[in-house]
Amino acid sequence: MSEITMVEQALEGTQPEFCHPPYVSSIARSPRSPLLLLPRTLSERTGPVFGHGLVGPGDNDLTAQHQGQPIGERIVVHGRVLDEDGRPVRGALIEVWQANAAGRYRHRIDQHQAPLDPNFTGTGRVMTGDDGYYWFRSIKPGAYPWSNHPNAWRPAHIHFSLFGAGILSRLVTQMYFPGDPLQPLDPIFNSIADERARQRLVSRFDIEKTIPEFELAFNFDIVLRGSSDTPFEDQRR
Ligand SMILES: [Fe+2]
Repeated sequence: MSEITMVEQALEGTQPEFCHPPYVSSIARSPRSPLLLLPRTLSERTGPVFGHGLVGPGDNDLTAQHQGQPIGERIVVHGRVLDEDGRPVRGALIEVWQANAAGRYRHRIDQHQAPLDPNFTGTGRVMTGDDGYYWFRSIKPGAYPWSNHPNAWRPAHIHFSLFGAGILSRLVTQMYFPGDPLQPLDPIFNSIADERARQRLVSRFDIEKTIPEFELAFNFDIVLRGSSDTPFEDQRR
């Protein structure tokens, strides 16, 4: 399979800046010194590898993890993981996590005034098939407030983590939804300077995959490298 590696030599402005002052916490945590490129050794390229048994058959349905249905707009998110030549990346582990329809995470740190949903945990995982394809079912996450600046709201988004064959090659990103008025106001979204690269994080509404009277569909392809690569968090070039 194609190896998921760090994004190298990305085009200017197509990946998030380490330090993007409007995203306040990036100031303190961004590096002050030039980065060191650690050579990859054989052990990092060859092992350890997660087992396929890690992912169960229902793990990609976030609406079916409890006794009842979660509140919210049911969606399916689907797409392919591709390398820079458009070849499928098979056997990649995708993990997702998100807020519920009210914009609240099931996490002790998230205590803002929105209800938890007893039928929604907000985490799931799936592996890509031989054609690099994946899909998962969920509910559309709500926007939520955060303390970055006065009246700051995160646009609706789903967090993605990808693992390749070697577990040291994790990539993390966020998927957004089309037509969200909060995106232009979001410092995290705007930490990617290049407009076209930023838009690669916005999923595409997909009427073809929508199931009538059941769920809406959104398409989100993930490209690991090259001039059309997906922006990833904290990846260096
Ligand atoms: Fe989030």
